[in-house]
Amino acid sequence: MKYRKPVIAGNWKMNTDIESGIKLVKEILDLSDSIANVEKIVCPPFVSLTSIARALNGSSIQLGAQNVNANENGSFTGEISTTMLCGLISHVIIGHSERRMFNGESSNQVAAKAITVSNAGIVPILCVGEDLSIRKSGKAANFVTKQLKASLKGFLNWESLIIAYEPIWAIGTGEAATSGQAQEMAAICRKVIYQLSPDVADSVRVLYGGSVNSGNVAELLIQPDIDGALVGGASLKAKEFSNLIRIASSN
Ligand code: PGA
Repeated sequence: MKYRKPVIAGNWKMNTDIESGIKLVKEILDLSDSIANVEKIVCPPFVSLTSIARALNGSSIQLGAQNVNANENGSFTGEISTTMLCGLISHVIIGHSERRMFNGESSNQVAAKAITVSNAGIVPILCVGEDLSIRKSGKAANFVTKQLKASLKGFLNWESLIIAYEPIWAIGTGEAATSGQAQEMAAICRKVIYQLSPDVADSVRVLYGGSVNSGNVAELLIQPDIDGALVGGASLKAKEFSNLIRIASSN
């Protein structure tokens, strides 16, 4: 099996202001800048990106955004484009379930974003995942397969892609998927990639997200198809986030 460098990405969501964001990232830097063999990414709110980019300059921690518009410019009041983000960030989360739910984002829109993002030389962290009723009805595998295929419609730049499987029922609930459930779904994501572009299926990183913490991350990361974690709540605590990074580096 091909070596895939683990990824620990923090999704700060709509938390922190500029000052507390800088403080948090400096604490994370102190605790984890020197940890090797793991890709570290923080995704703060838009308003903090410039100051946090400055704080991260020359460090081993990369910067991501939490969303982007699919257009490069134009009359889209309040939106942010890849043109604005280029040179500032290396990654962007797209298709997070909170955006799909609260902002009505469709997989078609997510697919358009994935293409724009990768054309701009930025790595999309593409999120998929089922809700509790789908999980209970036994249709999670089928749902995520369809959602991922639709979210990758027209995507070509396979070298530059990270997928995050995030079951909605596990996000922010304190109830992570079991490692068995997460592995099963990560393998399904990889199977979709295999169907779309067999050559890269072994190298695309698939993350798990949903109530990841330092108590459950090791068990998740030893699963053959799980290559890292997308972390919400625990990414807002420097010590806990750095513990995740340390565990991933030695896994
Ligand atoms: P959580 O969020 O770690 O707080 O569950 C994960 C996410 O939404 O990316």
